Amino acid sequence: MSDSSFYVTTPIYYVNDAPHIGHGYTTVMGDVLTRWHRQRGEDVWYLTGTDEHGQKVLRKAQQNGVAPQDWVDRLVETEWKPLLELLDVANDDFIRTTEARHEAGAQAFWQDLHERGAVYKGGFSGWYSVSGEEFVGDDDVRDGEGDDEGQKVSALDGSRVEYVTEENYFFPLSKYQDQLLALYEERPDFIQPESARNEIVAFVKRGLKDLSISRSTFDWGIQVPWDHEHVMYVWIEALLNYVTAAGYGVDQEKFDRLWPASIHLVGKDIARFHAVIWPAMLMAAGQPVPHRVFAHGWLLVGGQKMSKSKANGIRPDELVSVFGSDAYRYYFSRALTFGSDGSISYEDMHARYHAELANGFGNLASRVAAMVGKYFDGALPAAGESTDAEQRIIDVVAKAVADADAAIEAVAPQDAVAAVWRIVEELNGYITEQAPWAVAKADPDDPRLATILVTATEGLRALAVLLNPVMPKAALALWGSLGAEPTLGALADQRIDGVASWGQLPVGATITKVPSLFPRIETPEAS
Ligand code: MSP
Repeated sequence: MSDSSFYVTTPIYYVNDAPHIGHGYTTVMGDVLTRWHRQRGEDVWYLTGTDEHGQKVLRKAQQNGVAPQDWVDRLVETEWKPLLELLDVANDDFIRTTEARHEAGAQAFWQDLHERGAVYKGGFSGWYSVSGEEFVGDDDVRDGEGDDEGQKVSALDGSRVEYVTEENYFFPLSKYQDQLLALYEERPDFIQPESARNEIVAFVKRGLKDLSISRSTFDWGIQVPWDHEHVMYVWIEALLNYVTAAGYGVDQEKFDRLWPASIHLVGKDIARFHAVIWPAMLMAAGQPVPHRVFAHGWLLVGGQKMSKSKANGIRPDELVSVFGSDAYRYYFSRALTFGSDGSISYEDMHARYHAELANGFGNLASRVAAMVGKYFDGALPAAGESTDAEQRIIDVVAKAVADADAAIEAVAPQDAVAAVWRIVEELNGYITEQAPWAVAKADPDDPRLATILVTATEGLRALAVLLNPVMPKAALALWGSLGAEPTLGALADQRIDGVASWGQLPVGATITKVPSLFPRIETPEAS
């Protein structure tokens, strides 16, 4: 077990198409966790990437009359890498499964399994879903209806299945049933949340079948090292990205630092691959299993799982171009419960943008900075004596920090943002109650004026640090307005555990006008 790093991963995404907000969801949540853990002072490594082999991608390239390598190269460069910039994602690495480092690592892993006698050759006949890239048991195959009339479909996700008869390599998954159940028992948080855990445990208890792990009817994949007639089954190859990107087989020092992963973030539809097949493969290879697999829910649009094939797929740039990347990140962090399905809508996003970001937070920041400008020429004054009202702010901030940190530990970003938001609400209430403008009007030399504005400004300092993982652009703009950098250093270097210590901004700090963080969006588009 490695304590030296916090290694976070997203699934690697199929490059059969452009990204939609379901992909953006996992990636942004991973980034929020990453940035928070960095501000805890941890050595964080955030990996994302693309899954480029397999029949699904191959067929899509063929349909477009393009060689698969050209297809994936184009899509990765024009769609998938730009997504990270669009959503302001600070990943440390991006793995493509067509890269030489992945191929070398995946082959080394297979070779090791082979030498340990952990794979065998056998005949395979059964149903395969290309769209799901998975084998479908006979019990889960149905007659298609409507457009699928005359075809067989998978009961798991409604996709068409094809009958395959091949000579394949197999992984003896059935042998790992007891070891897997022991793992879930000994490490109850290995698979989270509870709903996903229960489903996985029940699934494994029903018994596991050996898994066909190679294909020999097409060649868009990584060759099995000892038998070039076969390419690796795309899932088995894809799961290996988590170790190949960490240096498996090529950079032992890096691998020792990163592996086992701290957390694999996955959608619930792919939890089984990560919580059953993946740990079994690692066990077979004598490698430690990841610390946890966290399965999040689906984004629902109009009550249905959002997906490209249902034509309710929304592209991230459709939202970012209207609301900006910070508001996008905020909305998905705050409005959904990570781990459950959740409905999203343009109207909800629009409403929260104005109520919470523009009026709640943006307005608070600009009002406070403007008052320091107006009453103190933009130089932070020295605070006078504190009263209960100031102490309350200090206490609220301390509690928010503790609660938010605990929420991040529990992989509940929505609770972390809600905890931080109590500071926004409390500060807004404080300013309304204390009415600094009235104090100034009654007596411009009343020391209360400085005390109130210093307290509010310190509250903004705390907010800049705590919101940086969620809204890095707005937090940085605020940090700049608070004149914090010269004495406190870069925003990204501010530690979570130091936020609550009060009075960090020095007397005389230059407070400047806060740029409009969340300008009003006057014309809501129809969703
Ligand atoms: N390539 C595999 C993963 C291999 S990981 C070793 C794959 N790719 S995917 O592009 O189809 O899906 C990637 C992720 O997107 C999955 O975690 C899936 O749950 C997620 N989402 C796809 N549609 C989604 C929603 N509507 N809502 C939330 N996430 C969803 O599977």
